[in-house]
Amino acid sequence: HRNIWLDCDPGHDDATAILLAVHTPGVSLLGISTVHGNASAENTNNNAARCLYAFAAPEDIKIYPGSTKPLIRPTRHDPEIHGIDGLGGVEGLPPGTYKPVQERLKHPGRVPKAIDAIARAVEQTWKDGAGDKVTIISSGPMTNIALFVSVYPELLGGIEEFVFMGGGVGIGNRSASAEFNILCDPEAAQIVLDVPVKKTMIPLNVTHTAIVTLETLRKLLSSDAPYSPGVAPVKASTNLRHMLWTLIWYFAESYKSTFGFMHGPPLHDALTIAYVSNPELFKCKRYRVDVELSGTHTAGETVVDIWNYRSCDDSWGRDGKNCMVAESLDVSGFFQLFLDCVSRCDAV
Ligand code: BDR
Ligand code: CA
Repeated sequence: HRNIWLDCDPGHDDATAILLAVHTPGVSLLGISTVHGNASAENTNNNAARCLYAFAAPEDIKIYPGSTKPLIRPTRHDPEIHGIDGLGGVEGLPPGTYKPVQERLKHPGRVPKAIDAIARAVEQTWKDGAGDKVTIISSGPMTNIALFVSVYPELLGGIEEFVFMGGGVGIGNRSASAEFNILCDPEAAQIVLDVPVKKTMIPLNVTHTAIVTLETLRKLLSSDAPYSPGVAPVKASTNLRHMLWTLIWYFAESYKSTFGFMHGPPLHDALTIAYVSNPELFKCKRYRVDVELSGTHTAGETVVDIWNYRSCDDSWGRDGKNCMVAESLDVSGFFQLFLDCVSRCDAV
């Protein structure tokens, strides 16, 4: 059983991470914080609430707004991939103005900020060193996490692990060498990588294997639904399935036009939750990982020392082999887990 906190920037694949975080057995979601990234911080905050509502999450799962911009660099969003508001083209999601969605963003009194909410969740779970720990999952730029570890170093003992989707081993997606989440806030990522707590990175090399193929889409829509690629089924068997179908379809179109992915889109962020609930689906290896902070062409690249050039100690911190890096995924096992979550959500 793992206690998790999800820091995200929904985002189509972040939305699927939220679905898994709410409905995967063996993980209990303590809260969600949001960050600038795929869209503005205001939009990603709103989108998290729209997703929690649409996925029938228990009302006591709260959302906390985080950083509206990176630590140092100019803010960047990604409308080309996710649409202007971060969840373009998704049918059946309630608008952010819908009252029950707004309710999900309310708190008694002043709205606590992300880093304070994370601190409170860790304190309450860890109970000053005697209780359980919390795994902090990041599926967006790491600004909130970097601020949390900087402001609350005394709580690091209560963190079981940091798991983040980001980076690549020799590949990027938003520059020749950098992946979007790391590129948005490279300094924040380096701060987190230097923290002496276990970390696991789920890089593009692995997320690009988690492609939603037509076969998975057919299963999502259930086999008897009338279906042909590119055309919405007359009726998916449930509203949830229709929503997810349109979400995946929009994401697929973005990935086709931007990156030439012809077989479907990668569900990057959902892998973070799958890794925590079902680590046996992944093969990982421990390396020294740093972020290029000053390269003319390579800023935001994750530098993974696969040949152990840098002499490192055994710590997870500044001088150590600081990060587990996922190297492969049991793809069909992952999509089975995804479809099981959809069925569980349908049954609520
Ligand atoms: C990452 O960037 C965003 O587009 C996705 O939500 C994911 O977190 C992939 O590079
Ligand atoms: Ca994301």
